[in-house]
Amino acid sequence: MIEGNVNFAVVGAGRIGRRHATMVVKHESAKLIALSDIDTSVHEELKNEFNVPVYMTHQEMFKNHPEIDVVNICSPNGEHAQQSIDALDNNFNVVCEKPMALNKLDAESVMFHALKRNKLVFCVMQNRYSPPAKWLKEVVESKTLGKIFLVQVNCYWNRDNDYYKGGDPAYWKGKLSSDGGTLFTQFSHFIDTMFWLFGDIKNIGAKFYDFNHQETTEFEDTGIVHFDFVKEGAGSINYSTSVWNSNLESSITIIGEKGSIKVGGQYMNEVEVCNIENYTMPTLEETLPANDYGKYKGSAANHHFVIENVVETLKGRNFVNTNSLEGLKVVEIIENIYKLKNQ
Ligand SMILES: NC(=O)c1ccc[n+]([C@@H]2O[C@H](COP(=O)([O-])OP(=O)(O)OC[C@H]3O[C@@H](n4cnc5c(N)ncnc54)[C@H](O)[C@@H]3O)[C@@H](O)[C@H]2O)c1
Repeated sequence: MIEGNVNFAVVGAGRIGRRHATMVVKHESAKLIALSDIDTSVHEELKNEFNVPVYMTHQEMFKNHPEIDVVNICSPNGEHAQQSIDALDNNFNVVCEKPMALNKLDAESVMFHALKRNKLVFCVMQNRYSPPAKWLKEVVESKTLGKIFLVQVNCYWNRDNDYYKGGDPAYWKGKLSSDGGTLFTQFSHFIDTMFWLFGDIKNIGAKFYDFNHQETTEFEDTGIVHFDFVKEGAGSINYSTSVWNSNLESSITIIGEKGSIKVGGQYMNEVEVCNIENYTMPTLEETLPANDYGKYKGSAANHHFVIENVVETLKGRNFVNTNSLEGLKVVEIIENIYKLKNQ
């Protein structure tokens, strides 16, 4: 248990890494110790902004700062598993941006190293902190909807040429080895929400399409996926990044024995329908806006809750909000869906 400030270091100081660093700096019981980023051209700017040492490799940073308590892995997806393992093997806890890994085997290896070292892995699924998500969890867990019949997840976003830097071979997004695919990079939050609410899936069927990303990505931009839940009910995920101009929606529709719910908006942030027997919808807290990357909107701007959860857990006052088993299950579900590409 940590008594004083919790000491953080960030690996990969791009868009989301800087957000992690900023949230750490803003937290009264957290301290930013150092940053690492392979791109030395941004080091001066990072030093000026955060006033901490900046390293090119995480190994060098780990060696110089044994006082680190927790390492936030914010590098490209393909680096997450090995960098998490390196941090755990140095006896640091880990906060891992989504996805935890690009395959189940690597996610298992991260879990194994965490168990061996008796360290924690916090997976970043910050949408869970959005008021509609917390409310959905409560409604589903209290069985207010009765039996679950059908769940439909729709994710329709815009990720165009500019987003993938026109297919620049040096850029990680759009590459199978570093990005992994649309379900890993764009839509794993929504698969996490579905898994968090309804559990694992089986009997998966899927079709994939590449409508307008032939020049920019090595994978599909669209998929139609259907399955059964292991517990009860059936479901589907329809997703696409080929939407023209701007994001359309990310929604979940739930048809239960005693009522229906639809939570929509760009990232499941607005309750559009709540029609349940003998139930009045409570007034929810206001939802924070999506992460804004200029033209592109992402998921919820809730990273301060993630840092708060890490600090509180390492001080022994809370539990990990999204643990490594949950991170692994999301990776496994995506891997099982993508396996169908080869059939
Ligand atoms: N939780 C969320 O809502 C959310 C939102 C955006 C991105 N992400 C995740 O965060 C990660 C980073 O995404 P981003 O949008 O910030 O990308 P980005 O391209 O803006 O930043 C990535 C940074 O990592 C650096 N880097 C590359 N290889 C590295 C290595 N081996 N070691 C250290 N640094 C390295 C790059 O130089 C760059 O600065 C991805 O895994 C992505 O899925 C999560």
